[in-house]
Amino acid sequence: MKKFLRVFAGISALCVLSCTPKPSGNGGPVYLDTHADIEARIDDALSRMTLEEKIKIIHAQSKFSSAGVPRLGIPELWTTDGPHGIRTEVLWDEWEQAGWTNDSIVAFPALTALAATWDRDLSALYGKSIGEEARYREKDVLLGPGVNIYRTPLNGRNFEYMGEDPYLSGQMVVPYVQQVQKNGVAVCVKHFALNNEETFRHTTDVDLDDRALYEIYLPAFKAAVQQGGAWSIMGSYNLYRGQHVCYNQRLIMDILKGEWGFDGAVISDWGGVHETDAAVKNGLDLEFGTWTDGLTMGATNGYDAYFLAKPYRDGILSGKYGTEELDEKCRRVLRLIFRTAMNPDKPFGAINSEAHYAAARKIGAEGIVLLKNDNQVLPVAPGVKRILVVGENAVKMMTVGGGSSSLKVQHEISPLDGIRARAGKDIEVVYARGYVGDTGGSYNGVSSGQDLSESRTPEQLIAEAVELAGQSDLVIFIGGLNKSNNQDCEGTDRRSLDLPYDQDAVIEALAAANPNLVVSLVSGNAVAMPWVDKVPAILQTWYLGSEAGNALADVVFGDVNPSGKLPFTFPKQLTDSPAHQPGMTFPNRHKVVYEEGIFVGYRWFDEKDIEPLFAFGHGLSYTQFSYGEAKLDKSSMNENGTVRLTVKVTNTGDREGAEVVQLYIADKESSLPRPEKELKDFQKVLLAPGQSKDVTFTIGADALKFYDPALPGWKAEKGEFEALVGSASDDIRTRAAFTLK
Ligand code: GLC
Repeated sequence: MKKFLRVFAGISALCVLSCTPKPSGNGGPVYLDTHADIEARIDDALSRMTLEEKIKIIHAQSKFSSAGVPRLGIPELWTTDGPHGIRTEVLWDEWEQAGWTNDSIVAFPALTALAATWDRDLSALYGKSIGEEARYREKDVLLGPGVNIYRTPLNGRNFEYMGEDPYLSGQMVVPYVQQVQKNGVAVCVKHFALNNEETFRHTTDVDLDDRALYEIYLPAFKAAVQQGGAWSIMGSYNLYRGQHVCYNQRLIMDILKGEWGFDGAVISDWGGVHETDAAVKNGLDLEFGTWTDGLTMGATNGYDAYFLAKPYRDGILSGKYGTEELDEKCRRVLRLIFRTAMNPDKPFGAINSEAHYAAARKIGAEGIVLLKNDNQVLPVAPGVKRILVVGENAVKMMTVGGGSSSLKVQHEISPLDGIRARAGKDIEVVYARGYVGDTGGSYNGVSSGQDLSESRTPEQLIAEAVELAGQSDLVIFIGGLNKSNNQDCEGTDRRSLDLPYDQDAVIEALAAANPNLVVSLVSGNAVAMPWVDKVPAILQTWYLGSEAGNALADVVFGDVNPSGKLPFTFPKQLTDSPAHQPGMTFPNRHKVVYEEGIFVGYRWFDEKDIEPLFAFGHGLSYTQFSYGEAKLDKSSMNENGTVRLTVKVTNTGDREGAEVVQLYIADKESSLPRPEKELKDFQKVLLAPGQSKDVTFTIGADALKFYDPALPGWKAEKGEFEALVGSASDDIRTRAAFTLK
């Protein structure tokens, strides 16, 4: 009875505090505004918690949850992967799935596909949809999105991120963050920071100059925190300048919590904590996934052996540590709990809804990038009566595998399914395997259930495909990478830029057999295309999740006019990439220095004057767009002024289409080296045939600044600048010069 009274007293006290209406002028109850309310609740809870209770809430109690304070009615915190959909329920302390039958969900397109839409509204739709699914599954923290910069085309996790440009990643992550959190679910933006390769991710010690850090690798995280209002952030596995990032003095204390004013919780990556001392002092707030050595490495339920558990509690009791760091950690964890698990205003969410499937399909179709379309091979012409679909990726499930973003979906429409459904009875669709890639199909106990076994030889498979190609009006090869190790998969990197499984030979053979060939690449990374001149039409179709086949068919049959643009550069060869210059060993077990500095992606290709296979920002349409001259409202601006640029964009084709109008800024005279141009704004405009729209950009000093380590800080230098407006980074249509006074 006594315990009950204590709990009841605790809950009622907390509720009283949190629900006491402030007397308002007109007599009606006006509740404390959420923020003040939460801060008051934190103070109250903290004042009641014992040392034991404080220690308990700053580390995991199960694979994906951390403790609350039962005595005070404060619930535990439940986290879930991942960036593209809500991970299947796992056993309390295992990675293996729990075998529930009510946790199948919608897989949304991978974040490279979202980035490729260049559509901020779709990012909001994405965040709303995935946030509703997390909420419905009763999860408090969504372990995503990821915004690590695409430094090398071999990074196994690039498919989870938003490309090579910090501005595009920043713009596309903010709406996602805002909308997820509107569901009372926290995002956990990851992997902060400098986790740009997978092979030795637990030991790679990254070093780079401050300009690259501030101008390239941090901006997307900063936008997620300052513009998105992220409630938690995940520390990455790697080291920065010799110190693990999960408790890195400079990144966590000086920059994230200091310069940026982050008020949320820093959560370690699973197994990212290796010591107590720095974890106490350098701002780690919540420890997850530690392989405990309290019993044996990887012992189950060894949670009290966590570095922020017994060792920390003993350190406090022995006087080695004070309690101010502990209270600060608890404040941030309590703030996370009050914003989520104890948020009284959150909606109820939804799962597997029509709206979510429609969102997945819309985002997928808008993310597809039409790389090439000679002779208008696409969309499917009216006269086409027989389509041959070739390739393992036409049938292979892609929502299973790839690491922690692997999902258990309610359904996944394969490319072949989608094309068949759309073709209907008027067009015959024939399938040929073409090649054998990875016949597996399970991850963490979730199985695709597909039997992809194949007894025929590669030669037989190619012969079959070639013969059928000769009898078809249109051939669609669907290949690319997959979610297996050393493909697009966490924990590993690719071994080369080439397509695996000898797909190049299949494509060459098909090109010789039928000129009406489309190559559709399912991948999250750039690949080499030695056959690029022999293939008239190429689509980059990403990993599109549950509605993949429908989204692809929407574009292939022209129901949707493609409007995607590449969020990263496709190099012609690996050594064109800045991370693969002679003498630079990749992957690195220990030290990796980002010697290219700020010259990442198109910045590097511009600087070295290297022609890419396909450029950042490139993407075609089934219609065409013309640009008028860029007009400025004035020829100069001062530090706190702006310049407005207007450009008329016209749809000169015969069908409606959307164009991503891109604004790059060039600093014509600077005291430090700067890229030839940098993306500083973009707008997606939908135009009917013949329609024109004036697109206006407001250019402020922020778009002109660079980071000067000597200050240290951001600055815009007076002098000549140029605004470049175009349809791609290598397709600038108009320019206008102005000066900063
Ligand atoms: C993994 C990943 C991280 C994921 C976490 C939980 O190792 O690095 O992205 O959210 O552990 O699965």
